[in-house]
Amino acid sequence: MTTTQNATRTAPRSAAARDHGGPDILCEDLVRIYSTEGVEIQALQGLNLRVEPGDVVALVGASGSGKSTLLNILSGLDRPTGGRATVAGVNLGSMSRAQRVHYQRHTVGFVWQQTSRNLMPFLTAAENVALPLLISNAREKRERVGELLELLGVSDVSGRRPAEMSGGQQQRVAIATAVANNPAVLLADEPTGELDDAMSAVVLDAMREASEQLGVTVLIVTHDPTIADHVRRTVQIRDGRTSTEVLRHTEVDEHGVEHLVAQEYTVIDRAGRMQLPSGYVTELGLRDRVRLELEPDHVGVWPDAERNRPVEPEPHHQDAQSDPTPPGEPSANPAPTDRVEEKPAPRHTGSGGATAMGHRPPAEDDPDAAFRRPEVDR
Ligand SMILES: Nc1ncnc2c1ncn2[C@@H]1O[C@H](COP(=O)(O)OP(=O)(O)OP(=O)(O)O)[C@@H](O)[C@H]1O
Ligand SMILES: [Mg+2]
Repeated sequence: MTTTQNATRTAPRSAAARDHGGPDILCEDLVRIYSTEGVEIQALQGLNLRVEPGDVVALVGASGSGKSTLLNILSGLDRPTGGRATVAGVNLGSMSRAQRVHYQRHTVGFVWQQTSRNLMPFLTAAENVALPLLISNAREKRERVGELLELLGVSDVSGRRPAEMSGGQQQRVAIATAVANNPAVLLADEPTGELDDAMSAVVLDAMREASEQLGVTVLIVTHDPTIADHVRRTVQIRDGRTSTEVLRHTEVDEHGVEHLVAQEYTVIDRAGRMQLPSGYVTELGLRDRVRLELEPDHVGVWPDAERNRPVEPEPHHQDAQSDPTPPGEPSANPAPTDRVEEKPAPRHTGSGGATAMGHRPPAEDDPDAAFRRPEVDR
């Protein structure tokens, strides 16, 4: 994994200041409906998301799933049709025009995919970073610009215009510009979309570094397949809703070797609705309805055996009257019935192909092991 050379860097003196409690990003049942030529498109369909201060989160999902729509709302460029979005304590649904301008200058920073959209082409890197500081009348501009360019590893291009920099350098200058005014939240829509793998890694690490040094909360929309190397939390968005997410942490095994462990979660909304990862649904052939079992520390989910049972062929030349079984004995040829057989539910031994959700039991044949795939050794 590529890392930025941060050993010699000094952290900028000022960092994101927050006077609100709670999460930096909170979306509750967020809805955005676009109406074009009489056709309604529900880009966000009751999206829920919570990001704590200082977190770095990647948002992934298929094209058209609503990622940019969400970022446009969070950046104050667009308004939700319904639901609630709060960023750093600011309710985005009820901002006046003046509050919106202040919000975009001081509370959020934004980095776009198109490198050319992030920077003024006729200004140098240093002048670009200084621009938001000038607008907000900040003090000690020169020192701040120098610190930020150093933090992002682009001090050497401070006197160059964007056309004289590589794409990765432009994006790092763009990050420096976006965080110049100490926003609480940095939003980035495909910031590495125009970069090669090596340069993408440098830019993603630079964002994480900015978060660690400045305390800024980062939400990155990306298709970058290496994103798991750079962030601890990846949230999947599907059909305008957050569906599943992966959290990563390091564990040390009995030989003292560190492993990066990824654990998959699903989002549960206030009504108790949740979505199973599509891989699990396919693997177990889950459809229509599933059987649930409440255990002391988790919920078991099983395929509906009655519905999924293959249709048995009709018995030939026999009907209920011709059943030879004596009265009172269990029938050798019972009449077909819709009754659901009531037998004890299988325990979660892992043998029944069940999906189980909850705290991890200590047993070796732990069915939750599927959630904890070792990913990358560090
Ligand atoms: N201004 C708009 N007017 C009408 N429909 C829109 C508008 N912007 C987005 N949409 C629609 O809303 C849905 C979500 O779009 P969005 O741009 O948020 O997707 P995305 O996840 O960012 O996709 P991609 O990965 O391709 O960038 C899509 O069906 C899109 O066509
Ligand atoms: Mg998009």
